[in-house]
Amino acid sequence: MKLLVMGPPGAGKGSQARKLIRDFNLEHISTGDMFRQSAERGEELGKKAMEYINDGNLVSDEITNRIVKKKLFEEGANTCFLLDGYPRTVTQAHALDDMLQEMGSKLTAVINIVVDKEVILERMVGRRVCRDCGYTYHTHFKPPKEEGVCDKCGGELYQRPDDKLESVRNRLRIYEEKTRPIIDYYKGRGVLVNINGMQSFEAVYRDIRKALRDLT
Ligand code: AP5
Ligand code: MG
Repeated sequence: MKLLVMGPPGAGKGSQARKLIRDFNLEHISTGDMFRQSAERGEELGKKAMEYINDGNLVSDEITNRIVKKKLFEEGANTCFLLDGYPRTVTQAHALDDMLQEMGSKLTAVINIVVDKEVILERMVGRRVCRDCGYTYHTHFKPPKEEGVCDKCGGELYQRPDDKLESVRNRLRIYEEKTRPIIDYYKGRGVLVNINGMQSFEAVYRDIRKALRDLT
């Protein structure tokens, strides 16, 4: 299975991806996580990427395509994967097509999580992420048992710098301009499923599972 999870910032891509990769044994390929991890390791690539990310801008297509290709073609790579937050431009969608062609494969489904702008803003400002394991919480919708502490590993919870209101607004603007056009790109191929993301975590997941059953 090869899945792509799309949607505006804060739609719940990462939250749903975590369950899907566990249930279907998929490799989770989140370009956002890859950039943040690279920066944590003190690498030049990650540090450069964070200059764009913190203000809510996109990292260049060239760099992004390169890290995805490296991951997909590395030795021992899982041939079943879930792409989260990639592709984000039409140029990246073309590059992904080339990679899939090289593998002699295609996408099983493109899951597009649909959420209104007001809900997105509410979700972003309340998001907290574990510094150690990356698990995601929300101050209101999914609070940890103890404030500021990860339930899973005891790590410190922090607010992503790009979750500041100004960065979020910029990310939404860029999403409309650069990423939304990809929806049409996949629509014609019969693999796109729109999922109502403005429901509970469980209801969104149930709808994704149902759509996958209908498709496969
Ligand atoms: P990335 O990390 O991918 O960020 P994003 O796309 O903006 O999406 P988020 O991770 O912010 O949100 P999400 O949809 O995963 O939602 P989540 O599950 O966390 O990318 C970051 C940056 O990296 C980009 O801005 C760009 O600069 C760069 N980048 C990445 N990929 C790139 C690419 N391909 N090309 C160029 N640049 C790239 O949920 C959000 C919150 O809502 C959480 O608190 C969660 O608990 C809560 N929540 C989720 N679902 C529900 C629900 N159903 N009900 C109530 N609360 C919910
Ligand atoms: Mg995410």
